[in-house]
Amino acid sequence: MLVVSNIRAGYDQIPVLHGVALSVTAGEVVALLGRNGAGKTTLLRTLAGELPVRGGLVRLDSQDVTKIRAYRRARAGIAHVPQGRGIFGRLTVEENLEVGTRAAIGRRKADVRDEVYEIFPVLRERRNQLAGTFSGGQQQMLAIARALCGQPKVLLLDEPSEGIQPNIVQQIAELVLKLAADKGIAVLLVEQNLEFVLHAASRCLVMDKGRIVHTGLTTEFRNEALLKELLAL
Ligand SMILES: Nc1ncnc2c1ncn2[C@@H]1O[C@H](COP(=O)(O)OP(=O)(O)OP(=O)(O)O)[C@@H](O)[C@H]1O
Ligand SMILES: [Mg+2]
Repeated sequence: MLVVSNIRAGYDQIPVLHGVALSVTAGEVVALLGRNGAGKTTLLRTLAGELPVRGGLVRLDSQDVTKIRAYRRARAGIAHVPQGRGIFGRLTVEENLEVGTRAAIGRRKADVRDEVYEIFPVLRERRNQLAGTFSGGQQQMLAIARALCGQPKVLLLDEPSEGIQPNIVQQIAELVLKLAADKGIAVLLVEQNLEFVLHAASRCLVMDKGRIVHTGLTTEFRNEALLKELLAL
């Protein structure tokens, strides 16, 4: 379970997050919504340990990971798929996955990779192909697969549907839902695509100006008027 309390963070002298609190339990998919510049990416980067925490706590199960650096936080079980995916285009699929297995501890890396190939048979078929030759949807799958190679307890996904064909978006939403259900991963999902959110998430948080301003069940967000009101804050 991921528990975040009263987090403050930002860039150099610019504060962006002003006391964010949230929790995501094992197997749950929670969506984080909010207009451009609200601080969603900043929050995920802070939770991943890429940006320092200026106040508040980040806990993973019973462990306080607030001050732990990014690579050790990945080993502790927090995986981050950044906005824009962050895969290495000049490396092959398998080399990309190898980078992911660095965060896996206590198991043979080849076994972990094979397990991930079971979920993504297409990636196994194309394991020697350069990742840069892939379509947006395939790259997103690879980015998620790479994150899974670290055997995470928490998966932070930043706009997985961005730049992806509509028919693949549904497929990725189903995948996210299945990963949470089958592996008990806690997923925090930043997403602008409402179909994706309605399909995958059970709860939604709305962020504005570095604060969570509304929380509710996803079903509540089927109400278009409310949604417009919340997102056009
Ligand atoms: N590297 C950076 N250095 C300084 N300020 C930044 C940096 N990245 C983002 N910001 C600022 O932090 C604030 C929050 O940005 P952030 O990227 O977290 O928003 P977001 O909710 O993810 O937006 P989007 O929906 O466009 O992805 C914005 O005011 C932005 O200009
Ligand atoms: Mg963003």
